[in-house]
Amino acid sequence: MTTTYLLLIQDFIKPTKATNLVVKYNTYSMHIEKRLQKELQKRLADNNLRSLKTRSGLVDFFSNDYLGLSRSAELRKAISIRNSETKANGATGSRLLSGNSELYEDTEKKLASILESESALIFNSGYMANMALLSAIPKKDDTIVYDELSHACIKDGARLSLAKRLSFKHNDVKDLELKIQKAQGNIFVVVESIYSMDGDQCPIDEILAIAKQYSAHVIIDEAHSTGVFGKNGNGIDIDPALKTEIFARVYTFGKAMGIHGAAVTGSSTLKEYLINHARSFIYTTALPPHSVISIDCAFEYLAEHIELQQIIKNKVKLFNQLFEEKLVPYYSKIDSNHPIQAILTPGNENSRTLAQKLVKSGYDIRPILSPTVPAGKERIRICLHTFNSDDEISHLVDTLAALK
Ligand SMILES: Cc1ncc(COP(=O)(O)O)c(C=O)c1O
Repeated sequence: MTTTYLLLIQDFIKPTKATNLVVKYNTYSMHIEKRLQKELQKRLADNNLRSLKTRSGLVDFFSNDYLGLSRSAELRKAISIRNSETKANGATGSRLLSGNSELYEDTEKKLASILESESALIFNSGYMANMALLSAIPKKDDTIVYDELSHACIKDGARLSLAKRLSFKHNDVKDLELKIQKAQGNIFVVVESIYSMDGDQCPIDEILAIAKQYSAHVIIDEAHSTGVFGKNGNGIDIDPALKTEIFARVYTFGKAMGIHGAAVTGSSTLKEYLINHARSFIYTTALPPHSVISIDCAFEYLAEHIELQQIIKNKVKLFNQLFEEKLVPYYSKIDSNHPIQAILTPGNENSRTLAQKLVKSGYDIRPILSPTVPAGKERIRICLHTFNSDDEISHLVDTLAALK
């Protein structure tokens, strides 16, 4: 039997006056608490301890709300009106049980048409969509070949499958081909249209051409291009002759679409397979009606305000021009025609300090530290938005110059 005894929580975490907590721990929980504390202390020592923050009153150069849809009062009103007509607050179950509805089915039909695909299947998030695809489809004798800078959910999904996994050098089609040559079984090539930490685009046509040569199946994560690029916001431009080579595309709605959720597009067979085999689809409560209505309304809103794509393009152009004019001697930046602009500031300490100075100057900008990015590639990641005025962008560049 384990000895249970009383232990003041201050042994681990200082109690606040308000809590004055006395907690029961047994020897086992003490052990695990100590281990967790040790790992957190290591993070602190390495300058990469994560913590939740709330900030207000700063100029947003940080969020993924590239087109300003999350803050659009017009979109909020449209969602609210539509939502007031529904009689359910929650989905009440998995889509396979009580969670499905005509709302879901209709929205998926609309999404398939907007995203120019045979079918679309809604997921609760992009994370779950990638987990679904990568864990359910590639089998033991297959191979997943993915870009080394792929998002965590691509790597996690691949790890959950029993397939062989091979990463290729970022955006390097030669290395991709070498890895494909080492692959076995069905080959799945996974890329992101726009890389979330670098903001650069994958050479999609070359990738599709190589995949075609080796009969590999390409999965494109369009998380950061959804809404920002393409007709109706359907992502990066792809040679029409190669489009048929795409096995699946993942669209997420929590970024430029300003709401929440995701969809996988592809063939009807793919959709049916995921409904039957994807655990992150099957074993979870479906998104509530409010979220599904929001998806529909956000795409309607984008269609009515498609000029937002040109506005963001102009902001990106302005930032790149100002960077060339004023910052090139002091900073190096990853080439990007997307609102994500990564300024390399090697070292966690360096990146943190610069970000803190920018915050003090009134900008909401966060550092991206290792291990989120490889050591030596730490950075501040600036996200541009349609609602950032030209003056704000210009002042940000002047502030960056002044801080050197
Ligand atoms: C490339 C990429 N894929 C997928 C996701 C996950 O999407 P969601 O936030 O909808 O879970 C993200 C989120 O940051 C991402 O950057």
